[in-house]
Amino acid sequence: MTRARGIVLSILSIAGIAAVGLLNPAIGHAASGSTLLSGTVKSGSASGEKMEGVTVSAKIIGQTITTSVLTNDHGNYYFPPMENGEYWVWAQAVAFEAPRDDVQLNGGAQRHDFVLKPKEDFFSQLTGDQLIVALPEDTPAHRRMKDIFVRNCVACHEGNVTLQNRLDEQGWEAIIGAMSRIGASGGFSAADQAMPALLHYQADLAAYLAEMRGPGPSPMHLEVPPRPSGDATLPVTYVYDIPLDNGGGYVPNNGSDWSLGPAMASGGGQTQHDAQVDWNGNMWFTGLNPASPDRTISKIDGNTGVVTNFKYAEDGSTLASPTHGATIAHDGTIWFNLISLGALGTIDPTTNILQVFTPPAPSVGISIDEDRHGFIWAATGRGAVRLDRKTKEFAEFISLTPGLVSYGMAGDHDGNGWWTEFNSTNWCLGLQSLVIGYSDIETGKSLEIPIPPNTDTFLQPGDLTPDDLTWYGPLGVAQGFPRRLGTDKNGDDVWAPDYLGQRLVRINIHTLQTTFYPAPRPGLNPYMAVIDNSHNVWMNLQNGDELAKFDPRRKQWTLYSWPNRGTSSRGLHILDRGGVVQASITYFDSSAAARMVVRTKEDIETLKVGLPDVESSE
Ligand code: HEC
Repeated sequence: MTRARGIVLSILSIAGIAAVGLLNPAIGHAASGSTLLSGTVKSGSASGEKMEGVTVSAKIIGQTITTSVLTNDHGNYYFPPMENGEYWVWAQAVAFEAPRDDVQLNGGAQRHDFVLKPKEDFFSQLTGDQLIVALPEDTPAHRRMKDIFVRNCVACHEGNVTLQNRLDEQGWEAIIGAMSRIGASGGFSAADQAMPALLHYQADLAAYLAEMRGPGPSPMHLEVPPRPSGDATLPVTYVYDIPLDNGGGYVPNNGSDWSLGPAMASGGGQTQHDAQVDWNGNMWFTGLNPASPDRTISKIDGNTGVVTNFKYAEDGSTLASPTHGATIAHDGTIWFNLISLGALGTIDPTTNILQVFTPPAPSVGISIDEDRHGFIWAATGRGAVRLDRKTKEFAEFISLTPGLVSYGMAGDHDGNGWWTEFNSTNWCLGLQSLVIGYSDIETGKSLEIPIPPNTDTFLQPGDLTPDDLTWYGPLGVAQGFPRRLGTDKNGDDVWAPDYLGQRLVRINIHTLQTTFYPAPRPGLNPYMAVIDNSHNVWMNLQNGDELAKFDPRRKQWTLYSWPNRGTSSRGLHILDRGGVVQASITYFDSSAAARMVVRTKEDIETLKVGLPDVESSE
């Protein structure tokens, strides 16, 4: 760069930073000492085209926050203002090498371009659902085993965890033996408590997996998936590494380098569940670890990444009471459930005061939500409870069908609660649900609505044996398992993601009319739905590293990518405030949480002011 050009650039960059001052603070802070980083990504193949939908990530070396953006249709990317410092910056797309450069950000506007070399073996870069789609359905035997595999082996972790390594039949038998006794968060039960379905299918599954992922040639048909395009390239995502619960270090692989394969809990993570962004841009996350010394609920500072733990110890215990679901109420307070206490907890982010409310009889479980009138709802083992925050009294609603476990919970526009109910016996094959419970707040009664299972499956008549069908439970090959539902607080709908049916279920709260929308791709395992102020339904995908948005008016899906592999996200939460939608999840298979800020085209135009180099290439 010549001296004269340097001067021009620095003047323009002052204009750029000034313009960025207009950005919503959720998108990025234009402090002094920050840099506007942008650049272009091109393919290193003979065609050399500019690439859309490439994930570009930047992390200050030695720190814990990774910021990621995607390239637009001109191959250009635009970071929000970034604190000056020495960064790793890398660019990733499936079937390309991921160059990682050491870049010093010194202020003003800086550009950094990438040329990506094609990569032949891209197996490890694929998401769980992309690998499931690659499993062949050409013969009755392949279809039978694919179905048995999907029902049993991608429930606790994504399919890319399951299929990452090649093993012979004996190796797979050993893995399946271990899996028959493992818990969803790790830890092994006694041999006599092994999951019967996994033992029953151990030999068949081992033979199948040795064919798909064994030492010999595999019939899996891998395809390079289309990259994100259009609106899906707009977000900026902040990923925060969370220090391990025992007070030391971080997981070795959080999935940020796709060529290393998915994030793995075997590294010691896997305790975080839900994450909710508060009004100050900080994130609150819950943790499942029953042996945690100090984490009941924890806060991640959105700007610095510093994690602060808040502990609630039960009488006679020195350990922190573990938590599962969380949500934000209309006044900005954070609510969560205390698993072992069966109680509701709340913390006020302005005062950090933590309070616990224990219902008289049933145990608060899994999911929490606030209804439009400010009552807090929680699923219980047998239905739901509703807390009146003014009187501190609980009302209980018991499911009409006894013996089902309630899981998801949502409070609606009219002040009613909705909960999903499932049959928890016969994990994993028979883990299904046919009913959603709800309250009639006027009469204090509980009601139920049946959900017809999805009969649209790749299985053909005769693929399964009569013996198989005895293991499949009452629904047979039909599938249905709505998990954590959400309500439109400004509308008339409850939305339930159907995990096994691979659909989004819409129920009108007044007419009970039910409509089904197929998930955007097969094999995604939708887990939780949250509705923003514009009626859009946001849904996370337990077997995919994307966040789905459904626009009910246009009946259109947009898939936003998380910048990591193996996210295996559980709770999804949205903060729709000040005109900006922020989505947050934890990575269940590693110690990290992510906050996606959905930028508009105008936000990016604002950032572009003063970036002559990138502009000239559009
Ligand atoms: C009840 C929960 C559960 C089920 C069901 C389950 N797994 Fe796992 N699996 C785990 C956990 C926990 C881990 C630890 C690592 C992680 O999640 O990142 C794991 C890890 C693995 C790994 C990686 C081991 C390594 O460290 O290289 C493989 C491979 C695997 N599972 C295969 C399977 C197969 C095959 C099935 C079906 C037969 C299956 N899993 C079903 C919970 C489960």
